[in-house]
Amino acid sequence: MEPQRVATAPTGSASYGGHTWTPDAEQREAGWKVPNPSDDLQGRQASRADGADADDVIEALSHVVLGVTNLERSEKWYTEFLPLDLIGRNLTAEDRPHSVLQTNRGQLVILVESDQVVPLRPGTMGMHHSFALTPNQYRRMVDRARDYGYDLVNLRAVRMAHGEYEVTIPDPDGHSVEITTSGPEVGEILLPGVGIVDCGPAEKYRVGDVKAFSEGRFFLVRLKDGFLALSQWCTHRNGLLTYQRAHWQFWCPFHQATYDRRGEITGGPSEEPLRRVPVTISEAGHVLVNAEEIIQRDCYEPGQAVAYSSRQGVSHG
Ligand code: FES
Repeated sequence: MEPQRVATAPTGSASYGGHTWTPDAEQREAGWKVPNPSDDLQGRQASRADGADADDVIEALSHVVLGVTNLERSEKWYTEFLPLDLIGRNLTAEDRPHSVLQTNRGQLVILVESDQVVPLRPGTMGMHHSFALTPNQYRRMVDRARDYGYDLVNLRAVRMAHGEYEVTIPDPDGHSVEITTSGPEVGEILLPGVGIVDCGPAEKYRVGDVKAFSEGRFFLVRLKDGFLALSQWCTHRNGLLTYQRAHWQFWCPFHQATYDRRGEITGGPSEEPLRRVPVTISEAGHVLVNAEEIIQRDCYEPGQAVAYSSRQGVSHG
């Protein structure tokens, strides 16, 4: 990675996330100085609610440089097909002919003309770049891709959450360009259409047990407080959760959200705990879960669990 060019900065070394960077003599002569981001980063750290160390935070990707064999052809593709804004040609210190393009969020894509470009080395996953669009932009892009005669493929279809969409398209040099969007379905409340599910005798569950009922899309958890049923749909973007017994947690494979057995967030991008599904205990002592009613909540409270003891039956709910 190239060192950062800054207008005012002390000389010497700088530390970033435990790494020390010192420019060599050639870099100093060329005008590179040690960046001093401390004031800016302290401000950002203070604004971070999760208290993460600002040195570990990358706020945004600055730019991507791509080798292309025909600058004009690629410039046209990236501005007309993708479409990015063209800022201009040959605007950086790069010796070779290049075009600087920009996303509407300000990240730069720099196309540099080279004789030879190897977009995908045999036997490797290669590098791809991914652009996140709004649903309408995505629809227009897919239409354009069809007009351009692309055979649209989704290489990750099985690993996508409900409501996420993606296609992968090669640019004129064969670089993989991934286009993604999220539809409103990512926040939809999904009902399984199976009605009330009989989970069997309450007595057979011990405190600590978690059982998945896939047809009803819920987990039944027996806590000390009682029975709690939790929707299996991740509250981040409707990914389907799995229970990791060894870690006593629910885990979403799509963007790595984790939740404890009360459904409270313990990690990842979710901002809401898991949704609750109402539980009752029948006269016969069976646990019944109404899979057609999903309850959103801010946090776990003991009253959400249906207490049960084999001698007393249901004590509250
Ligand atoms: S869908 Fe994103 S973390 Fe679950």
